[in-house]
Amino acid sequence: RTLYEIRRPLIHWYRENKRDLPWRENPDAYRVWVSEIMLQQTRVEAVKPYYQRFLAALPDVKALAEAPEDVLLKLWEGLGYYNRVRNMQKAARQIMEEYGGVFPDRYEDILSLAGIGSYTAGAVSAFAYGLPRPAVDGNVLRVISRLLGSREDIMKASVRRKTEEELLEVIPPEAASDFDQGLIELGALVCLPGGEPKCSQCPLAGLCRAKREGTQGELPVRTKA
Ligand code: ADE
Repeated sequence: RTLYEIRRPLIHWYRENKRDLPWRENPDAYRVWVSEIMLQQTRVEAVKPYYQRFLAALPDVKALAEAPEDVLLKLWEGLGYYNRVRNMQKAARQIMEEYGGVFPDRYEDILSLAGIGSYTAGAVSAFAYGLPRPAVDGNVLRVISRLLGSREDIMKASVRRKTEEELLEVIPPEAASDFDQGLIELGALVCLPGGEPKCSQCPLAGLCRAKREGTQGELPVRTKA
């Protein structure tokens, strides 16, 4: 089973090649959450200064819950998609009321917060708490569809769910964070979108069906929007 076999080379590669990113230093749940929401529609390099400024101004859940709207919007200005930060404040208030201000540490509880879907809930679960939950975004879907040589449309919710289920079964409990972040990092640095991913640098090239069949450039398949 291919997904079992990627575990060791992926985790090893990640540990050797990961970028130093501010949200990887001292990854508590609040910091991971803020970074993942920012990274949803914005590139890593653009997020960095926003991330540092946001955390300096609003260092914890309580500060976010109590922030005046103009402060919030100012901190977000330029990132766009302002509903993201409005939902974050909603979630921060939920955490104050329902969890005594302590960021919940169970996947289902995290998933119940405003603006948090399976990707973000998985990312916080794994990166902050080390829980073996998958964090499947578009980059991870690309990596997995190439690896398995799948021609299923990655825009379909069913494909994402199936990918999450399959990853859930293979995430090593002792290295969940490095496994999940390894897939994201591989998608960002090596298994690039378009016709010329850097297969010569890929730790999973020997396991990859698309590489074997020469279909890297055709995958993933994505239809609608
Ligand atoms: N893109 C989404 N999440 C990321 C993360 N944690 N690190 C780098 N790039 C990302």
